[in-house]
Amino acid sequence: MKIIIVLLMYGVETVIFLLEERDKMENPKMIIDLEKFEKNVAFLVDKLSKQNLSITAVTKVVCAYPTLMEVFDKFPEIEYFGDSRIENIISYQHSPKKKVLIRIPMHTEIEEVVKYADVSFNSEISTLRLLNEEAAKQGKTHDVLLMTDLGDLREGLFYKEDLMNVVEIIQTELSHLRLVGLGVNLTCYGGIIPDETNLSKLTEYKKEIESTYNIELPMISGGNSSSLYLLDHPEEKLPEGITNLRVGESFYLGRETAYEADYEEMFQDVFTLRTELVELKIKPSYPIGKIGVDAFGNKPSFTDVGPILRGIAGIGKQDISPDAITPIDERIEIIGASSDHLIMDMTKTGKDYQVGSTIDFKVDYGSLLSSFTSKYIKKETIK
Ligand SMILES: Cc1ncc(COP(=O)(O)O)c(C=O)c1O
Repeated sequence: MKIIIVLLMYGVETVIFLLEERDKMENPKMIIDLEKFEKNVAFLVDKLSKQNLSITAVTKVVCAYPTLMEVFDKFPEIEYFGDSRIENIISYQHSPKKKVLIRIPMHTEIEEVVKYADVSFNSEISTLRLLNEEAAKQGKTHDVLLMTDLGDLREGLFYKEDLMNVVEIIQTELSHLRLVGLGVNLTCYGGIIPDETNLSKLTEYKKEIESTYNIELPMISGGNSSSLYLLDHPEEKLPEGITNLRVGESFYLGRETAYEADYEEMFQDVFTLRTELVELKIKPSYPIGKIGVDAFGNKPSFTDVGPILRGIAGIGKQDISPDAITPIDERIEIIGASSDHLIMDMTKTGKDYQVGSTIDFKVDYGSLLSSFTSKYIKKETIK
């Protein structure tokens, strides 16, 4: 879209020039190992399918990056793509997967939600009424799933009577909506671990709604990557009646997220963040002068360990949080960052790096998310 606007305003030569200049700029970049990613997807798809669970691949952390979406598209067992941003859902309209908006819609995006999402997650009557009106306008029936809050205290209907009241309104008043399921999200805000006790509530609600209204709720969505541990746990298990999981982080980073255990069969290094050194100098470790606040208004504290070899990479808090990346070379320690500069103690690396050298980092969920969101971090796929 942006390219089309620039094209209209400045002409084709300017657009070609901008794209060429951008391609020349190498770093920072996120290197994506597609083969490892595909193996991760294959492993989890197999695991979930064996348990008869339908799969929603959550695409938001990589901003629905097209090459990764193509890998998901190779697996027909993945029935749904789920994303919190309607922009990402719009970007993969060509995919055969059903598209699910997993964040409660905003009133100002109702038209796009009905147009581009096959299912949306909801918890508010006012929003459901707007979806119903819009679906009528577009001559459609829009599928909705009601989110319940089972204790994590993020989105969802917390009290059973509220849930049943919303179901009653959908069933009796909102003829352009079809209730297709119930869902819960845990381990996101309150850090609550999914277990048989809390997830069983979802299946109890399902039974009651199905028998009261004589309907079927095919999508009982029992959480995200933090519910995966229940598939292997000797004491706890996923309650019968849970039919779907929405998985993001585990596909990309190869671990479950209730206890943050890596899957041995998966790769944790699908993604590598590559940065470039713009300065490398021996300087004191303690700032000179009266200390006020840093660029972000925080009062910094320092330990004086004498002169150190300080490296600066051309990436900063505008792109990633310095706490959310880990240098692969263990001799390097991140000591801080401003918006555009990542500052590292490289004393232990001796003469191994020069200005212009690259430094690679492992990413966690937060830095993966912000790296894909940052337009300054280029993306490169390797096979
Ligand atoms: C409602 C909902 N479901 C599922 C997910 C996927 O979570 P995870 O990446 O931990 O699997 C998210 C994460 O953004 C979410 O908000």
